[in-house]
Amino acid sequence: MITMVPVLLILSGAVAILQAELLPAEKFLLLPPVNFTIKVTGLAQVLLHWEPNPDQKPRNVNLEYHVKINAPQDDDYETRNTESKCVTILHRGFSASVQTILWHGPSLLASSWVSAELKAPPGSPGTSVVNLTCTTNTAADNGSSLWPYQVSLRCTWLVGQDAPEDTQYFLYYRYGSQTEECQEYSKDALKRNIACWFPRTFIQGKGRDWLAVHVNGSSKHAAIEPFDQLFALHAIDQVNPPLNVTAEIEGTHLSIQWEKPVSAFPTHCFDYEVKIYNIRKGYFQTEKVTTRAFVSIVDDASKYCVQVRAAVSATCRAAGSWSRWSRPRYVGTDEQKPLARWFLVVLMAAACFLLLTSSLLCRGCRLWSRLFPPVPAPKSNIQDFLVTTNHEKAGSTETETEVVSYVEEAAFETLEDSVF
Ligand SMILES: *[C@@H]1O[C@H](CO)[C@@H](O)[C@H](O)[C@H]1NC(C)=O
Ligand SMILES: *[C@@H]1O[C@H](CO)[C@@H](O)[C@H](O)[C@H]1NC(C)=O
Ligand SMILES: *[C@@H]1O[C@H](CO)[C@@H](O)[C@H](O)[C@H]1NC(C)=O
Ligand SMILES: *[C@@H]1O[C@H](CO)[C@@H](O)[C@H](O)[C@H]1NC(C)=O
Repeated sequence: MITMVPVLLILSGAVAILQAELLPAEKFLLLPPVNFTIKVTGLAQVLLHWEPNPDQKPRNVNLEYHVKINAPQDDDYETRNTESKCVTILHRGFSASVQTILWHGPSLLASSWVSAELKAPPGSPGTSVVNLTCTTNTAADNGSSLWPYQVSLRCTWLVGQDAPEDTQYFLYYRYGSQTEECQEYSKDALKRNIACWFPRTFIQGKGRDWLAVHVNGSSKHAAIEPFDQLFALHAIDQVNPPLNVTAEIEGTHLSIQWEKPVSAFPTHCFDYEVKIYNIRKGYFQTEKVTTRAFVSIVDDASKYCVQVRAAVSATCRAAGSWSRWSRPRYVGTDEQKPLARWFLVVLMAAACFLLLTSSLLCRGCRLWSRLFPPVPAPKSNIQDFLVTTNHEKAGSTETETEVVSYVEEAAFETLEDSVF
């Protein structure tokens, strides 16, 4: 089977050539188109136009055209129209060719080519901007406008290495049929424009067209080369982070919820990534989800830091980058509650035990001292001596008992000292 396929193709090709050769030659002599022109119709946009050759006979055949773009980038397509729009950078010039073609069965008849070109705009080498980067961002529009969302655009660039000091750059963007010049530039130390900010643009949040950016410039000392760049919106869109992220712990469940970011894309167009940071243990858990909620089982009490980020999913647009992380939400506590409680219980039990034993010991020694009154202690204790003398002065019988009580305490103290 595998070897049969090329054989069949060759055979059918041979048949087609035979058929073509059998046709009267002058009837199918294809003439190239006439009046082929390339016209710049907008920023980084040209219109190719041609006319069918007026001498082509017969006139009722289905003529088609084969268009070949030669510069700045090779491209190649067929069309039945006599014009074609091209979105392309133009600062390096543009050239294209077109020929008349006729499909006759499987075989192709073609005329000679006609070509046209646009010369690269003038400028000294090294004067154009370099490293042009642009980003878009969507904001909710509060009010008067017809659209609920506004897309802003920010571009930055570096001054050309060989651009004179007095060079000034100007930035324009085109989206669809709308072109705007920058109104808010940032400048370097030499007051040359190096960045631009459009708070609102004609860019559509869900748009699929190319964004064309053109930066030209002027100087008294040199012609400044212009610079064009095309940007795919999905590649430069800075998606907003998810809104209203909440996190709560109930038992062992850490539940996180959020809302879709501010974006022209509907809810089902987002992928999310949830990051849970266990602060005590110092590790991250990240999960990809397509819903707007996530539950994680957390088995030990800790403080958690929760963040969520968003990206437009592949079902709605070509892959772009993630948004920033949402602002951190903290949940849970650092205290190790169950452990702390256990520790407290053990501590209290130990304290009770100590109190009990010491009071028992105390009673024991009191009894001991009652049963065996101690021999009068040496009168080295000044207090005892003072008390005794005071009572002697009063001339009462209480003297002895008072002294005994003091001695008792002294005895308890010595007992304690010997036990512990
Ligand atoms: C081609 O252009 C010339 C001059 O502009 C014009 O006279 C002629 O009619 C055009 N030919 C066709 C087929 O449009
Ligand atoms: C500018 O871009 C070039 C490559 O395109 C890169 O090598 C260079 O580091 C960039 N310069 C800066 C300052 O980013
Ligand atoms: C919308 O209003 C809020 C506050 O009311 C403001 O912070 C925000 O910048 C406004 N957005 C736009 C696009 O004007
Ligand atoms: C820069 O480009 C814009 C848009 O194409 C044009 O209107 C303007 O005249 C150009 N300026 C210079 C200095 O070339």
